[in-house]
Amino acid sequence: MEMANVTFEYLPGTPLAHTALTDINLTISEGDFIALVGPTGSGKSTLIQHLNGLLTPTSGSLSFRGRRVGVDVSPLELRREIGLIFQFPESQLFEHTVADDIGFGLRRQGLTGPEVASRVENALLQVGLDYAHYAQRSPFSLSGGEQRLVAIAGVLAMRPRFLVLDEPTSGLDARGKAAIFDCLDRLNSDGVAILMVTHSMDEVAESARRIIVLNEGKIVLDDKPERIFAHASFLRGIGLDIPKAAELVYKLREKGFEIELDSVSVRSVVDSVAAAVKERCAN
Ligand SMILES: Nc1ncnc2c1ncn2[C@@H]1O[C@H](COP(=O)(O)OP(=O)(O)O)[C@@H](O)[C@H]1O
Ligand SMILES: [Mg+2]
Repeated sequence: MEMANVTFEYLPGTPLAHTALTDINLTISEGDFIALVGPTGSGKSTLIQHLNGLLTPTSGSLSFRGRRVGVDVSPLELRREIGLIFQFPESQLFEHTVADDIGFGLRRQGLTGPEVASRVENALLQVGLDYAHYAQRSPFSLSGGEQRLVAIAGVLAMRPRFLVLDEPTSGLDARGKAAIFDCLDRLNSDGVAILMVTHSMDEVAESARRIIVLNEGKIVLDDKPERIFAHASFLRGIGLDIPKAAELVYKLREKGFEIELDSVSVRSVVDSVAAAVKERCAN
Protein backbone atom coordinates (compact mmCIF):
# COMPACT_ATOMS: atom_id res chain seq x y z
CA MET A 1 0.00 0.00 0.00
CA GLU A 2 1.48 3.27 -1.05
CA MET A 3 0.52 6.94 -0.70
CA ALA A 4 2.38 9.28 -3.04
CA ASN A 5 2.32 13.07 -2.54
CA VAL A 6 -1.14 12.92 -1.00
CA THR A 7 -2.71 16.23 -0.06
CA PHE A 8 -6.25 16.45 1.25
CA GLU A 9 -8.43 19.48 1.74
CA TYR A 10 -11.79 19.46 3.54
CA LEU A 11 -14.53 21.61 1.98
CA PRO A 12 -12.38 22.99 -0.84
CA GLY A 13 -13.48 26.26 -2.37
CA THR A 14 -15.55 27.26 0.69
CA PRO A 15 -14.71 29.67 3.50
CA LEU A 16 -14.29 26.56 5.70
CA ALA A 17 -11.64 25.02 3.44
CA HIS A 18 -8.97 23.30 5.51
CA THR A 19 -5.90 21.41 4.35
CA ALA A 20 -5.70 18.40 6.68
CA LEU A 21 -2.88 16.51 4.92
CA THR A 22 0.07 17.89 2.98
CA ASP A 23 2.32 15.87 0.69
CA ILE A 24 2.09 12.51 2.46
CA ASN A 25 4.45 9.82 1.20
CA LEU A 26 4.09 6.47 2.85
CA THR A 27 4.55 2.79 2.09
CA ILE A 28 2.94 0.08 4.20
CA SER A 29 4.31 -3.38 3.55
CA GLU A 30 2.86 -6.82 4.22
CA GLY A 31 3.48 -7.79 7.83
CA ASP A 32 4.24 -4.27 9.14
CA PHE A 33 3.21 -3.19 12.64
CA ILE A 34 3.02 0.58 12.53
CA ALA A 35 1.83 3.12 15.10
CA LEU A 36 0.58 6.43 13.76
CA VAL A 37 0.86 9.13 16.43
CA GLY A 38 0.39 12.88 16.54
CA PRO A 39 -1.40 15.58 18.50
CA THR A 40 -5.17 16.05 18.21
CA GLY A 41 -6.07 17.56 14.85
CA SER A 42 -2.81 16.51 13.19
CA GLY A 43 -4.67 14.53 10.51
CA LYS A 44 -4.43 10.93 11.74
CA SER A 45 -8.06 10.02 11.16
CA THR A 46 -8.06 11.81 7.82
CA LEU A 47 -4.99 9.85 6.72
CA ILE A 48 -6.33 6.42 7.61
CA GLN A 49 -9.65 7.05 5.88
CA HIS A 50 -7.67 7.33 2.66
CA LEU A 51 -6.29 3.83 3.13
CA ASN A 52 -9.54 2.07 2.40
CA GLY A 53 -10.97 4.55 -0.06
CA LEU A 54 -13.38 6.40 2.25
CA LEU A 55 -11.65 9.65 1.37
CA THR A 56 -9.97 10.42 -1.96
CA PRO A 57 -6.91 12.65 -2.14
CA THR A 58 -7.36 16.21 -3.38
CA SER A 59 -4.04 15.66 -5.14
CA GLY A 60 -1.54 12.81 -5.22
CA SER A 61 -2.35 9.12 -5.45
CA LEU A 62 -2.68 5.81 -3.67
CA SER A 63 -1.77 2.42 -4.99
CA PHE A 64 -2.33 -1.08 -3.73
CA ARG A 65 0.06 -3.82 -4.85
CA GLY A 66 1.19 -1.56 -7.68
CA ARG A 67 -2.35 -0.81 -8.94
CA ARG A 68 -3.77 2.70 -8.78
CA VAL A 69 -6.69 3.11 -6.38
CA GLY A 70 -9.72 4.55 -8.17
CA VAL A 71 -8.26 3.53 -11.56
CA ASP A 72 -7.21 -0.15 -11.42
CA VAL A 73 -8.64 -0.95 -7.99
CA SER A 74 -12.13 0.13 -6.90
CA PRO A 75 -12.69 1.42 -3.36
CA LEU A 76 -14.94 -1.62 -2.83
CA GLU A 77 -12.16 -4.04 -3.76
CA LEU A 78 -9.76 -2.10 -1.54
CA ARG A 79 -12.14 -2.42 1.41
CA ARG A 80 -11.96 -6.20 1.13
CA GLU A 81 -8.19 -6.18 1.57
CA ILE A 82 -7.92 -3.34 4.07
CA GLY A 83 -10.12 -3.52 7.14
CA LEU A 84 -10.73 -0.16 8.79
CA ILE A 85 -11.84 -0.05 12.41
CA PHE A 86 -13.16 3.31 13.54
CA GLN A 87 -12.89 4.73 17.01
CA PHE A 88 -15.45 3.15 19.37
CA PRO A 89 -16.48 0.52 16.78
CA GLU A 90 -18.75 -1.15 19.36
CA SER A 91 -21.21 1.69 18.82
CA GLN A 92 -22.03 0.02 15.49
CA LEU A 93 -23.01 -3.35 16.93
CA PHE A 94 -26.73 -3.93 16.41
CA GLU A 95 -27.66 -7.59 15.81
CA HIS A 96 -29.30 -9.82 18.43
CA THR A 97 -26.36 -12.19 18.72
CA VAL A 98 -22.61 -11.88 18.51
CA ALA A 99 -22.54 -14.46 15.69
CA ASP A 100 -25.09 -12.54 13.61
CA ASP A 101 -23.22 -9.31 14.10
CA ILE A 102 -19.88 -10.75 13.02
CA GLY A 103 -21.53 -12.50 10.05
CA PHE A 104 -23.40 -9.41 8.87
CA GLY A 105 -20.81 -8.18 6.36
CA LEU A 106 -20.27 -11.71 5.03
CA ARG A 107 -23.97 -12.27 4.34
CA ARG A 108 -24.12 -8.91 2.62
CA GLN A 109 -21.31 -10.14 0.37
CA GLY A 110 -23.53 -13.10 -0.56
CA LEU A 111 -21.87 -15.78 1.56
CA THR A 112 -24.19 -18.29 3.22
CA GLY A 113 -24.64 -20.90 5.98
CA PRO A 114 -21.57 -23.02 6.68
CA GLU A 115 -19.06 -20.58 5.14
CA VAL A 116 -20.42 -17.73 7.31
CA ALA A 117 -20.45 -19.96 10.42
CA SER A 118 -16.87 -21.11 10.00
CA ARG A 119 -15.58 -17.61 9.31
CA VAL A 120 -17.43 -16.26 12.36
CA GLU A 121 -15.93 -18.98 14.52
CA ASN A 122 -12.48 -18.24 13.21
CA ALA A 123 -12.85 -14.48 13.68
CA LEU A 124 -13.86 -15.00 17.32
CA LEU A 125 -10.83 -17.22 17.80
CA GLN A 126 -8.61 -14.51 16.31
CA VAL A 127 -9.80 -11.95 18.85
CA GLY A 128 -9.43 -14.47 21.69
CA LEU A 129 -13.13 -15.05 22.45
CA ASP A 130 -14.48 -18.58 22.86
CA TYR A 131 -17.16 -19.39 20.25
CA ALA A 132 -19.24 -21.65 22.49
CA HIS A 133 -19.34 -19.03 25.21
CA TYR A 134 -20.00 -15.93 23.11
CA ALA A 135 -21.64 -16.71 19.76
CA GLN A 136 -25.26 -16.76 20.90
CA ARG A 137 -25.07 -13.98 23.45
CA SER A 138 -26.40 -10.49 22.84
CA PRO A 139 -23.54 -8.07 22.09
CA PHE A 140 -25.15 -5.72 24.59
CA SER A 141 -24.66 -8.17 27.46
CA LEU A 142 -20.87 -7.97 27.05
CA SER A 143 -18.29 -5.74 28.72
CA GLY A 144 -16.98 -2.72 26.80
CA GLY A 145 -13.74 -4.53 26.05
CA GLU A 146 -15.54 -7.65 24.79
CA GLN A 147 -17.85 -5.53 22.62
CA ARG A 148 -14.85 -3.93 21.00
CA LEU A 149 -13.31 -7.34 20.29
CA VAL A 150 -16.58 -8.45 18.68
CA ALA A 151 -16.58 -5.34 16.49
CA ILE A 152 -13.00 -6.11 15.44
CA ALA A 153 -14.00 -9.73 14.72
CA GLY A 154 -16.67 -8.41 12.33
CA VAL A 155 -13.91 -6.82 10.25
CA LEU A 156 -11.58 -9.82 10.55
CA ALA A 157 -14.31 -12.11 9.21
CA MET A 158 -13.75 -10.40 5.84
CA ARG A 159 -10.15 -11.68 6.03
CA PRO A 160 -8.31 -8.42 5.36
CA ARG A 161 -4.53 -8.57 4.86
CA PHE A 162 -4.18 -5.07 6.31
CA LEU A 163 -5.91 -3.88 9.45
CA VAL A 164 -6.15 -0.16 10.21
CA LEU A 165 -7.44 0.89 13.63
CA ASP A 166 -8.27 4.36 14.93
CA GLU A 167 -7.39 4.53 18.66
CA PRO A 168 -8.39 0.91 19.34
CA THR A 169 -7.74 1.03 23.08
CA SER A 170 -9.32 4.37 23.95
CA GLY A 171 -11.75 4.24 26.84
CA LEU A 172 -10.86 0.67 27.86
CA ASP A 173 -9.51 -0.44 31.24
CA ALA A 174 -6.08 -2.07 31.58
CA ARG A 175 -7.46 -5.54 30.98
CA GLY A 176 -9.44 -4.45 27.91
CA LYS A 177 -6.35 -2.77 26.49
CA ALA A 178 -4.23 -5.86 27.07
CA ALA A 179 -6.81 -8.02 25.25
CA ILE A 180 -6.69 -5.71 22.22
CA PHE A 181 -2.90 -5.78 22.16
CA ASP A 182 -2.77 -9.57 22.50
CA CYS A 183 -5.15 -9.77 19.57
CA LEU A 184 -3.12 -7.38 17.40
CA ASP A 185 0.16 -9.14 18.22
CA ARG A 186 -1.38 -12.48 17.29
CA LEU A 187 -2.81 -11.16 14.02
CA ASN A 188 0.50 -9.61 13.11
CA SER A 189 2.31 -12.92 13.78
CA ASP A 190 -0.18 -14.50 11.38
CA GLY A 191 0.96 -12.03 8.73
CA VAL A 192 -1.71 -9.32 8.94
CA ALA A 193 -0.20 -5.85 8.60
CA ILE A 194 -1.32 -3.49 11.36
CA LEU A 195 -1.50 0.26 11.34
CA MET A 196 -2.95 1.75 14.48
CA VAL A 197 -3.56 5.28 15.59
CA THR A 198 -2.87 5.76 19.28
CA HIS A 199 -2.17 8.31 21.97
CA SER A 200 -0.35 6.01 24.32
CA MET A 201 3.39 6.01 23.82
CA ASP A 202 3.78 3.27 26.42
CA GLU A 203 1.57 1.00 24.30
CA VAL A 204 3.42 1.93 21.15
CA ALA A 205 6.75 1.06 22.74
CA GLU A 206 5.62 -2.51 23.43
CA SER A 207 4.28 -3.53 20.04
CA ALA A 208 5.01 -1.28 17.09
CA ARG A 209 8.10 -1.88 15.00
CA ARG A 210 7.72 1.41 13.20
CA ILE A 211 6.30 4.76 14.30
CA ILE A 212 5.02 7.51 12.06
CA VAL A 213 4.63 10.93 13.67
CA LEU A 214 2.18 13.34 12.10
CA ASN A 215 2.08 17.05 12.94
CA GLU A 216 -0.10 19.68 11.27
CA GLY A 217 -0.90 17.31 8.43
CA LYS A 218 2.70 16.40 7.63
CA ILE A 219 4.82 13.36 8.40
CA VAL A 220 7.63 14.66 10.61
CA LEU A 221 9.22 11.35 11.67
CA ASP A 222 9.01 7.79 10.33
CA ASP A 223 11.40 5.34 11.98
CA LYS A 224 11.97 2.51 14.46
CA PRO A 225 10.70 3.25 18.02
CA GLU A 226 14.14 3.47 19.63
CA ARG A 227 15.17 6.04 17.03
CA ILE A 228 11.93 8.03 17.30
CA PHE A 229 12.29 8.49 21.06
CA ALA A 230 15.79 9.87 20.67
CA HIS A 231 13.90 13.01 19.55
CA ALA A 232 12.40 13.40 23.02
CA SER A 233 12.45 17.20 23.22
CA PHE A 234 11.04 17.59 19.71
CA LEU A 235 8.20 15.19 20.59
CA ARG A 236 7.44 17.04 23.81
CA GLY A 237 7.44 20.28 21.86
CA ILE A 238 4.57 19.10 19.67
CA GLY A 239 2.69 17.81 22.69
CA LEU A 240 3.60 14.11 22.64
CA ASP A 241 5.00 11.98 25.46
CA ILE A 242 7.79 9.51 25.39
CA PRO A 243 7.41 6.03 26.90
CA LYS A 244 8.20 5.83 30.61
CA ALA A 245 10.72 3.05 30.05
CA ALA A 246 12.67 5.20 27.55
CA GLU A 247 12.49 8.19 29.89
CA LEU A 248 14.01 6.13 32.69
CA VAL A 249 16.95 5.28 30.44
CA TYR A 250 17.54 8.92 29.50
CA LYS A 251 17.48 9.98 33.16
CA LEU A 252 19.93 7.23 34.13
CA ARG A 253 22.22 8.28 31.29
CA GLU A 254 22.22 11.82 32.66
CA LYS A 255 23.47 10.29 35.91
CA GLY A 256 26.38 8.70 34.09
CA PHE A 257 25.08 5.18 33.45
CA GLU A 258 26.07 3.82 30.09
CA ILE A 259 22.93 2.14 28.83
CA GLU A 260 22.29 0.98 25.30
CA LEU A 261 18.76 1.46 24.05
CA ASP A 262 18.03 -1.00 21.22
CA SER A 263 14.39 -1.37 22.08
CA VAL A 264 12.02 0.69 24.21
CA SER A 265 9.86 -2.17 25.50
CA VAL A 266 9.76 -2.48 29.29
CA ARG A 267 11.31 -5.94 29.24
CA SER A 268 14.23 -4.88 27.11
CA VAL A 269 14.84 -1.71 29.15
CA VAL A 270 14.87 -3.78 32.36
CA ASP A 271 17.57 -6.03 30.84
CA SER A 272 19.67 -3.03 29.74
CA VAL A 273 19.37 -1.26 33.10
CA ALA A 274 20.19 -4.46 35.02
CA ALA A 275 23.31 -4.95 32.89
CA ALA A 276 24.43 -1.35 33.48
CA VAL A 277 23.89 -1.59 37.24
CA LYS A 278 25.83 -4.88 37.45
CA GLU A 279 28.65 -3.33 35.47
CA ARG A 280 28.80 -0.39 37.86
CA CYS A 281 28.75 -2.65 40.95
CA ALA A 282 31.60 -4.70 39.52
CA ASN A 283 33.78 -1.60 39.18
N1 LIG B 1 -15.33 16.62 8.22
C1 LIG B 1 -14.46 17.62 8.39
N2 LIG B 1 -14.66 18.85 7.83
C2 LIG B 1 -13.77 19.85 8.00
N3 LIG B 1 -12.63 19.75 8.69
C3 LIG B 1 -12.36 18.56 9.27
C4 LIG B 1 -13.27 17.44 9.15
N4 LIG B 1 -12.73 16.39 9.84
C5 LIG B 1 -11.56 16.84 10.36
N5 LIG B 1 -11.34 18.13 10.01
C6 LIG B 1 -10.15 18.94 10.38
O1 LIG B 1 -9.00 18.34 9.81
C7 LIG B 1 -7.91 18.35 10.73
C8 LIG B 1 -7.44 16.93 10.97
O2 LIG B 1 -8.44 16.22 11.64
P1 LIG B 1 -8.34 14.69 12.03
O3 LIG B 1 -7.85 13.92 10.86
O4 LIG B 1 -9.62 14.27 12.63
O5 LIG B 1 -7.17 14.74 13.14
P2 LIG B 1 -6.76 13.69 14.28
O6 LIG B 1 -7.42 12.39 13.97
O7 LIG B 1 -5.27 13.63 14.22
O8 LIG B 1 -7.20 14.27 15.59
C9 LIG B 1 -8.42 19.04 11.99
O9 LIG B 1 -8.04 20.39 11.93
C10 LIG B 1 -9.92 18.91 11.89
O10 LIG B 1 -10.57 19.98 12.51
MG1 LIG C 1 -8.74 11.20 15.13
